[in-house]
Amino acid sequence: MRPLFAFVTFLAAASCLAAGASFTVDATRSAGPVSPKLYGLMTEEINHSYDGGLYAELIQNRAFLDDAKSPAHWSAVAQASSTADIALDPSNPLNDKLPVSLRVSVTQATKDQPAGVANSGYWGIPVHPKTVYHASLFARAEASFTGPLTISIVSEDGGTVYASEKISGVVSEWKKFEVTLKTGNVVPTAQARFEITLDQPGTVWLNVVSLFPPTWNDRPNGLRKDIMQLLVDLNPKFLRFPGGNYVEGNKIEDRFPWQKTLGPIEDRPGHACCWGYRSSDGMGLLEFLEWCEDMQAEPVLAVYAGYSLQGGHLKAGAELAPIVEEALNEIEYVTGDTNTTWGARRAKDGHPAPFQLNCVEIGNEDFFDQSKTYDARYAQISDAIRAQYPRLKLISTIAGAQLNGRKADIVDQHDYSATDEFIKKSRNYGSDFNRQGPEIFVGEWAAHEDAAVRPWDGAAHKLAPTPTMKAAIGDGVFMAALERNADIIKMHCYAPLLVNVNPGARQWRPNLIGYDALTAYGSPSYYAIQMFSRNLGDEILPVTFANTSVQGCATRNRRTGEIIIKLVNPELRPESLPIEINGVTAIASKATIITLAGNPEDTNSTSHPRNVVPVTTTLRDVKPGFTYALPPTSIVVIKLQAR
Ligand code: AHR
Repeated sequence: MRPLFAFVTFLAAASCLAAGASFTVDATRSAGPVSPKLYGLMTEEINHSYDGGLYAELIQNRAFLDDAKSPAHWSAVAQASSTADIALDPSNPLNDKLPVSLRVSVTQATKDQPAGVANSGYWGIPVHPKTVYHASLFARAEASFTGPLTISIVSEDGGTVYASEKISGVVSEWKKFEVTLKTGNVVPTAQARFEITLDQPGTVWLNVVSLFPPTWNDRPNGLRKDIMQLLVDLNPKFLRFPGGNYVEGNKIEDRFPWQKTLGPIEDRPGHACCWGYRSSDGMGLLEFLEWCEDMQAEPVLAVYAGYSLQGGHLKAGAELAPIVEEALNEIEYVTGDTNTTWGARRAKDGHPAPFQLNCVEIGNEDFFDQSKTYDARYAQISDAIRAQYPRLKLISTIAGAQLNGRKADIVDQHDYSATDEFIKKSRNYGSDFNRQGPEIFVGEWAAHEDAAVRPWDGAAHKLAPTPTMKAAIGDGVFMAALERNADIIKMHCYAPLLVNVNPGARQWRPNLIGYDALTAYGSPSYYAIQMFSRNLGDEILPVTFANTSVQGCATRNRRTGEIIIKLVNPELRPESLPIEINGVTAIASKATIITLAGNPEDTNSTSHPRNVVPVTTTLRDVKPGFTYALPPTSIVVIKLQAR
């Protein structure tokens, strides 16, 4: 980030006025209302968004199902004169959902030389000072075992113990144990592991070994606080979940198995996630809904629509009927009274109150379906949902689809473009939209820096996981276009939302928010979205921009009269832009300016989380016509009070 003093100096000196450049806001009329749900979030399990991300569980492979051949992420712990051997054991299952447990056989051990097993977490176990962790596990032992188990968080080399407790009473039947681990005044580190050790020879079996730090709103099985704070700060009005591709799965049997994601975590087998790793399903349907509740955002539920990524699909008719039933049951779980089957199940899971659901998306990106069965699948699923839930708005995933004569209320259109492409297409964006509907949901979009490196290309893996200021410029011009068309574009959301930045953790770039085990940060694109979503009127004011590469938009708050102008300067040079506000006789002389500026390659990271962040300043002597000097490569929000 440029230091603030340099930025201020620059404002004083800037004078690159393109001949005839103008940005005019027409405040005499409104171009339509701004949807109150315009800014939201989209989420799925990708890039370790939940496991190793937002879902605060710290133990990787807690149920030993990640790898059928070996206990991935677990290792034996032994000292000079103690020994332990670990193995997957299908002959001692915890229950019928979790068919494999971990056998830990300790042949030599003493109090001074314990032995057992360690979990390396999701790229480390985060150790924070003076923090209370909640550990739980299921254990059983061979009949002769009498000793305690020691549960600890220790340094990677085992030399430093950060927190430790003992549990006793491990017997030959499976039993659940819970213990709290408290750290002292330690220096934060993620170079730590979680250990379970024995101080005498013996054999024990373990399953659902879990460790949680404090969570957002102290929810059990909850969410990571620092990431939640970043999300809440975006002021999202809705959450589109659970995908994306994740709702579909690679194969039909890998679709998001919402029923199997309910209840205690020991009843959740997890499933193969389409992004190359196994999902624990700790982040289940109820957790998604409570996540919405905690952000005061509305759920936008995507239901599986009978098509999966590798082309497997179910023909409309009898073949699709069970999927239709699944979708109806899922909606009942979300919205049903407790006297319905699935509403009662939700109450049993701990949430008697129904959730407010207004929109359901049928499938995801079904334009990829070579079998061309979406029209018939949509028709069958939407008919069933409308018959039971006439109030719900239904979202189709193909623009211009015929849908066998059915009409979607909303169509979901995705757009992943390079910054230069967004700059080009955003100027006249929306001029060809049919204003008669359906409404538009841009359910996935993001700018990447280089048209030659698409988000899904292997080459993208060589780049940082989160975008630079250059991409934020693309995001800015696109968001301005979305706001100018907010009469017909009712909702939009960036994708993907989350990325674990550790090598090997991601499948896509760019992503909005990055994190490792210890630190989370917002990218420049994150701050661009935050500036747009937190500063929004409720009616669109028409704008024209001429002879300038600056693009922008304006909205007004009808109640307060505040006019919010958003401008994006994609140029490497400053732009002095004459701004005219027509139809306003007087304006408060002080305006609030929020600026995100940087060199195109500037970015944020876990080590420099606040390199590019918005800066708020005050502008004086504002009039209905004034010139504003935009810094190079910048996004600027100007908040004016019309009188
Ligand atoms: O956001 C990443 C992926 O892009 C989504 O899962 C999918 O819907 C789209 O193709």
